[in-house]
Amino acid sequence: MEKIFYPITQRRLRASTHIRALTAAVKLDHRCFIQPVFVEEGLTTARAVKGLSGVQVYTRESVLKFIAKNIRSGIQKFLLFPVPAENKKDEFKFSFATDLVRSLKKEFGNEIWLAADICLCSYTSHGHCGILNEEGTKLLNSQTVDLLAKYALQLAQAGADCLAPSDMTDGRIGAIRSSLDAFGLDTVSIMSYSAKFSSQFYGPFRDACHSAPSGAALQDRKTYQLSPLNPRDALVSTLRDEQEGADILMVKPAALYTDIIASLRQQTNKPLAAYHVSGEYAAIEALASQGLVIREAAHLEVWCALARAGADIIISYAAESAKDWIEKLDY
Ligand code: PBG
Repeated sequence: MEKIFYPITQRRLRASTHIRALTAAVKLDHRCFIQPVFVEEGLTTARAVKGLSGVQVYTRESVLKFIAKNIRSGIQKFLLFPVPAENKKDEFKFSFATDLVRSLKKEFGNEIWLAADICLCSYTSHGHCGILNEEGTKLLNSQTVDLLAKYALQLAQAGADCLAPSDMTDGRIGAIRSSLDAFGLDTVSIMSYSAKFSSQFYGPFRDACHSAPSGAALQDRKTYQLSPLNPRDALVSTLRDEQEGADILMVKPAALYTDIIASLRQQTNKPLAAYHVSGEYAAIEALASQGLVIREAAHLEVWCALARAGADIIISYAAESAKDWIEKLDY
C-alpha cells in the first residue's frame, strides 16, 4: 500500500520554545501584576490561610518584610486588605487601616503602588459589605455609600495611590470620586470591582478576613453582587462605574468569567483588571498538592487565559512569583 504523506503546516510555529515565544500573540509581563496583602490588627504572629498555600495574614511588622521580598522579586503593586480586630466590629473606626497605609507609604514611598480595598465586610459583625436595616434583611445603599466614601477619603489622605471599592453598592464610585476631588486628591485613582459576581470562590478569602456573612437574616450577597446568569448586568454596572469616574475596571472571579472580560474589552477603552480570586487559586493549589498539576505551569496557564481574554492587569495571590515564572516560561 502506498504511504500517505502529511506535510507539516502549523507545526512549524510550534517546533521550539524560541519560535513559540517569538510568535506568541499574547505576552505576559510581571509589571501588570498586583499582589494582594492581608494585615490584621492586633495579630502577634503571621498566620496561614486555609487553602491558600504561600499566603499569610501578616502583622503590622511582618508585612514590611513581605513587601520588601516582593520588591526584590520585581513586584511593586499591592492590593491591601486591612482586617480590624474581632472586638472592633461595628465601630467603623478606620485608624488601623489608615495607620497601616501611612506606615507602608512611609517605609516604601513610590517604590510601591498601593491600592486599598474599600469594603465594610470585615468591619461588620454580620459580615455584609455595608449597613443593614434593623431587621437585618436589607443592605442600605445610601448609608453604606456615605461610610465607604468617608473610609476611602481617609485612606487616600493617608497616602493610598488607588482605592478599590469591592462592595457593589450603587453610586459609590461617583461619591468617592467627588469626595477625593473636593479634597484635592485628584491624582488618586479608583479601581472599581465593577463586575463582581456572587461566587462560591471567595471562601478562603472570607476565612482570612473574618468576613463571611453570618447571623443576619440576609444570608448571602446576592442582593448586591452579580448573578452568574446575568452577564448583561456586568456590562451595565461596569459601564456605569466608568461613567461615574472609575479609572480601572475589574472582573472578579476571573478564570470563570473570561467571557465577561472579553466582552467588556469590546465595550470600553479603560484598563481592565482580572482578579483570580482565593477559591480559584486554592483549586490550583489543591491539585498541585496532589501532584495532579505542575503548580507554576497551572497558574501561568490561567494568566495566559486572562491576558488572551483582554485583561491588562492580573491580581493573583501568586503575583510575587510572576517575574520569576514568566522569565522561565517555556512558551
Ligand atoms: C470584600 C471582598 C471579597 C473579595 C475581595 N473583596 C469577598 C466577598 O465579596 O465576599 C474576594 C477576594 C478573593 O476571594 O480572593 N467584599
